[in-house]
Amino acid sequence: MIVCSCNRLTDSDVAEAIRSGACRPGEVYACCGKRPDCGACVRMILSSIKASMQEMATAAAV
Ligand code: FES
Repeated sequence: MIVCSCNRLTDSDVAEAIRSGACRPGEVYACCGKRPDCGACVRMILSSIKASMQEMATAAAV
C-alpha cells in the first residue's frame, strides 16, 4: 500500500525504516532516501511509528 504518494513510499518501506531505528517522520523519509513534500502522509507515518513502538513495548513486557 502506498503511504506517501509524493515519494511512492509503501507501508513496507515505512516499516523497514522504523525497524532501522527511525522514530520521527523526518527520519523515515531520510532512511528511505526521500524528503517530505506535501506532508499529507505525516499522520499515517506517525501512526505507524506509534503502533510499532507499542508493539515493541508489549514485546519487551512479555
Ligand atoms: S504524500 Fe508524503 S509528502 Fe506528500
